[in-house]
Amino acid sequence: MPANLISKKDMKDLAEQAAGRSESKGDPRVKEVTERLLYRLMQVIDECDVSMDEFWAAVGFIAKTARNNEFGLMVPGLALEHFLDLRLDEAERRAGIDGGTMRTIEGPLYVAGAPLSKGEARMDDGTDPGEIFFISGRVTGEGGTPIPGAIVDIWHANSKGGYSFIDGEQAPFNLRRRIETDAQGRYLARTIVPNGYGCPPQSATREILTLLGRHAERPAHVHYFISAPGYRQLTTQFNFTGDKYLHTDFAFGTRDELIVTLERVNDPEEIRKAGLNRPFARATFDVVLVQDKAGAPATNVQREHVIAG
Ligand SMILES: [Fe+2]
Repeated sequence: MPANLISKKDMKDLAEQAAGRSESKGDPRVKEVTERLLYRLMQVIDECDVSMDEFWAAVGFIAKTARNNEFGLMVPGLALEHFLDLRLDEAERRAGIDGGTMRTIEGPLYVAGAPLSKGEARMDDGTDPGEIFFISGRVTGEGGTPIPGAIVDIWHANSKGGYSFIDGEQAPFNLRRRIETDAQGRYLARTIVPNGYGCPPQSATREILTLLGRHAERPAHVHYFISAPGYRQLTTQFNFTGDKYLHTDFAFGTRDELIVTLERVNDPEEIRKAGLNRPFARATFDVVLVQDKAGAPATNVQREHVIAG
């Protein structure tokens, strides 16, 4: 069939009708967004001359994504989670907020309720053969004032790229901890160096990325939520210099301001001081939080998470 079979007016009328515009009942916000979505979808179908087979294949594809519970992968894979971050960055700038550590995507693998400790924590359970890794840092306000009592919620993958609760292979809350900063705003985590990971082989997300000619891999990274009373909650992560996938993360999570260099420590004296008997790695990730501001868009996003149980 040729493209452009339907006039824009007819598509707009149909989208308006489907969105209940002539009905007094219903939710005005849902009506507005539905109408615009439908109108644009109809335009794409008509402009690209999407066949019935193609349309229903797409519906089946969305159904598969839902069955696999993988919208948490699909959303960042199609850049939408990063797009939401870009919008929030700009909304903050317009609200007069321009500073603090850069945010980036949460990703799909956060689990609430990780063990909480003061000042420092060991995140791994000792079973992972990965490289021992110390992460240290300070949480401060914009002027460099330390923020004691900030909650630094950290989660990351193991040396195989798997997450506890998700891969079914790790102890509950392995590599997931909350650390309350000390009087100087410092935190210290002992853990293991994470590996990157890819979308599961049979996932709908990998399927679409392959059709788009893209890979489905993430570089290694460590996720953070940081919160403190009177400050805006921050969702972020850091990556490592030199990672093969650093600048082609399928999830668009890498930001240049959030790349740290892993320092390899081989000096016997340093190893002894750390209470270890083998070389280790360390990195610093300092966090600057921005003070709460009336009228600024919220940063503590409400979304469905895996429930630990
Ligand atoms: Fe992740």
